Amino acid sequence: MVEETVEAAPGRSRDGGAGSRLERLTQVRSVERARLSVGSPEFNRVLGGGLVPGSLVLLGGDPGIGKSTLLLQTALRVAESGRDVLYVAAEESPEQVKLRADRLGRLSDGVILLAETRLDQALEQASELRPALLIVDSIQTVSVSELDSSAGSVSQLRDCTARLLNFAKRTGIPVFLVGHVTKEGLIAGPRVVEHMVDVVLYLEGERFHQHRVLRAAKNRFGSTNEIGVFEMTDAGLVDVSNPSEFFLAERVIHAPGSAVVAAMEGTRPILIEVQALTSAAGYGTPRRVATGFDATRLQLLVAVLAKHAGLRLADHDVFVNVTGGIRLVEPAADLAVALAIASSASGIPLDPDAVYIGEIGLAGEVRGVHSLERRLQEAARLGFTGAYVPASSRVATVPSGVRAIPVRTVAEAVSALAAQAVQARRAAPEPRTE
Ligand code: TYD
Ligand code: MG
Repeated sequence: MVEETVEAAPGRSRDGGAGSRLERLTQVRSVERARLSVGSPEFNRVLGGGLVPGSLVLLGGDPGIGKSTLLLQTALRVAESGRDVLYVAAEESPEQVKLRADRLGRLSDGVILLAETRLDQALEQASELRPALLIVDSIQTVSVSELDSSAGSVSQLRDCTARLLNFAKRTGIPVFLVGHVTKEGLIAGPRVVEHMVDVVLYLEGERFHQHRVLRAAKNRFGSTNEIGVFEMTDAGLVDVSNPSEFFLAERVIHAPGSAVVAAMEGTRPILIEVQALTSAAGYGTPRRVATGFDATRLQLLVAVLAKHAGLRLADHDVFVNVTGGIRLVEPAADLAVALAIASSASGIPLDPDAVYIGEIGLAGEVRGVHSLERRLQEAARLGFTGAYVPASSRVATVPSGVRAIPVRTVAEAVSALAAQAVQARRAAPEPRTE
């Protein structure tokens, strides 16, 4: 329970001005203001093509994942184009920020640091300076003095965000806001202000893996399907412009239980490896565990495989892992997941030069997917020679180098796997790493 002080709110319009008036939609002026480039193609893509003036962008993520790094790099890049960027460091001292900046490359005069936890003071400075970009790191450590509650409480978070929103709309200066995702505790998480801001981004990844995925959970100025892929290096976050290659780099070829899917992340096709492992279950209900894939969907696929492809999994645990820490939410990944399971269960490796694309229905049918052509192009680009695709999907032009193999049912695909095994036994290559 958190006590909130309710301030008497005078009738304020959204931009902080006095009155409001009725306007016909057709008569509202359309303003297409230039977006501010944040200097990284991956970051720009997730934002929908750059920062919209006056927008409030929340960057959430686990502590230590790289939020400050990403925003400090952004500050340096924007400043490089001759603009001022105000970085409000409410968590770290200017010396600490400097230390990090030194690792990130060329310093720029345009980055101005302000170590301040009182939000009103920071906004006063910002109003005077009029930077091209304001960064507040983080929302959990700034506070307003009018409220009794401490920094990081729900009411402080809400009030601070409201003031920042007002500042952004009033001045047209875009604002980045850092929010730590917290386990339950005294500090409120970024979720409580998600509804107030224009854009919500989450930086994800495993702490001990070097890549990071930036994902939009909400975007008033663009799609939420786009992802940005970065690699954490000694010199900060580096754009990964070729994610497919990156995600397939550690693939073990000719090992059972591995399938490559051509998934769509927004407008971009990305090839991702799906791994499955089946093993004899102990007592009780066998386990179905998925990482990066929906657990309910996994149960459904296991049921379909049992019913329509004759796979006996009732006394086996099934584990599925989407490599690279990616979350596959598309139904188009079904076929790859199902075949990875079938491959592990039978011990027969799948064709390492093929990708698998298709949604699986309850009757065991392989259903059509969107953007098939783009997926095939990506597969061709990375040197794949085959693609198992839904028989119902028509592709106008199959890219050269890739053979499209139409699949009607999951049973058909599983029996094709057994046929492959016969061929493979003749060649019998050793497992190798790509
Ligand atoms: P940081 O941006 O401080 O995380 P957050 O603001 O989300 O809490 O990043 C912290 C981690 O990033 C830290 O463990 C070290 C690592 N890191 C690098 O690997 N390379 C770098 O160049 C920098 C600046 C940080
Ligand atoms: Mg930080």
